Amino acid sequence: MSTAYLNGDYKPLDDCQVSVLDRGFIFGDAVYELIPFYTQTAFRLEAHLARLKRSLAEIRINNPNTDQQWQAIVEHLITQQDDINGYIYIQVSRGVARRDHAFPKDTAATVFAMLGAWPAAIEGAFDKGLSVVTVEDIRWSRCDVKSTSLLANVLMKQKALESDAHEAIMIRDGKVLEGSATNVFVVYQGTIYSAAKDHLILPGITRDVVVELIQALALPFVEQAASVQQLKQADEVWLTSSTKECLAITLVDGQPVANGQPGPLWRKVYDAFQLQK
Ligand code: PDD
Repeated sequence: MSTAYLNGDYKPLDDCQVSVLDRGFIFGDAVYELIPFYTQTAFRLEAHLARLKRSLAEIRINNPNTDQQWQAIVEHLITQQDDINGYIYIQVSRGVARRDHAFPKDTAATVFAMLGAWPAAIEGAFDKGLSVVTVEDIRWSRCDVKSTSLLANVLMKQKALESDAHEAIMIRDGKVLEGSATNVFVVYQGTIYSAAKDHLILPGITRDVVVELIQALALPFVEQAASVQQLKQADEVWLTSSTKECLAITLVDGQPVANGQPGPLWRKVYDAFQLQK
């Protein structure tokens, strides 16, 4: 049983209990972060903590910890177990209070963190790539906040799995925004497109790493959402996330992307990514 952190204490995950009146449970009134670690070192910790601070500020929860305190929690959890690779999940809710939509007064946030095992590699993901379905984006318009209110994402991901696909890519006003739990890159006529980091996407940390690598490799890049037409005629499509890193998508709505094989630009970026870890 792995060690977890709840409101100042470290204890076995099974012993962590939160009231049913927690606003995270009742309203989804909470934000979260997912920080991967490699060889027991948190990857891009500063960027993840900056995003957590921003999410908290956007939903007006006081940050319960300093960066040093967050770092100590993350490092403590990583070293309390044997896996050298994995991730830390952090969740902060507005706390426990009688059910009322309005913010409670003087209520302490609920602060929770746990370890996650690195997900098993998806069979064929590297050699053959992944398949996706496109879905209409039905989410609210503050997708930049890493909120635990993920119902739309849950429904989309389930739709993808029930269509024998790995991920759902969300389309809004004819534009390719992101996946249910991933950011998306589209290579069209040699140029790489990825939606700009505005309120309609989650500003992915892996996305930032990939953009840095694209720039270091001097590949043509525009920070702009591809259109559905460009997606359908793409040379390559990739997805990125903390748990999937950067993977090629080779099937969109049952149609092969170009020749249906992971492409050469993806391979360059993938190789460069491995050196970052
Ligand atoms: N999801 N877009 C959405 C909607 C996400 O939920 C995620 C991450 C990303 C990629 O962000 P990052 O590169 O920082 O992981 C993009 C995490 C992995 C999750 O909810 O499990």
